[in-house]
Amino acid sequence: MRTVLVVYGTKSGCTAGIAERIGIALGESGITAEVKAAQDRPDPSAYDAVIVGSGVRAGMWHASVKQWLLANAPALRGKPVALFTACLTMATDPAKADEVRAYTDPLITETGIEPVDVGLFAGMNDPRAFSLPERLVMKAMKAPEGDFRDYAAVDAWTRGLAERMGL
Ligand SMILES: Cc1cc2nc3c(=O)[nH]c(=O)nc-3n(C[C@H](O)[C@H](O)[C@H](O)COP(=O)(O)O)c2cc1C
Repeated sequence: MRTVLVVYGTKSGCTAGIAERIGIALGESGITAEVKAAQDRPDPSAYDAVIVGSGVRAGMWHASVKQWLLANAPALRGKPVALFTACLTMATDPAKADEVRAYTDPLITETGIEPVDVGLFAGMNDPRAFSLPERLVMKAMKAPEGDFRDYAAVDAWTRGLAERMGL
């Protein structure tokens, strides 16, 4: 049985929900998945493949996931790895997908990881899940409120990815 590690970084819980859903979709495909927060520093060495995702603040992944990727880059370079980003641009302006894909370019260069794919998912703007400064930024940007996570899209991406990763 193949075993996949799904690692996430989140501030509001949005990306944790997407990561859990990826774990469920893998399970439905007969693949064992373990879903863990980057800040818990999971060891990727025993897994057949790794999926890593983060929410975004000002065009950047969260520090906890960036640090985890950098710390584990040597182990990750030797196995299939996929990345995913959860953000608001994919909800409000999906035509800017290339801009969102570029959020992970510096990390890919820095770690030398060659991802099988970079998934791009709509996130959420739930003021109850944000700090006051974050709420003010969202308000200033006139960002629409809501949970825009599309779990059907997450499922479809995960199924395709499992095939591409040879799981
Ligand atoms: C202060 C702040 C800055 C943000 N910056 C961006 C951004 O640059 N691009 C984007 O698409 N989404 C941006 N977002 C939206 C978040 O990425 C979105 O809410 C996502 O669902 C957060 O997931 P997380 O809470 O799991 O990290 C921002 C949100 C906040 C609160």
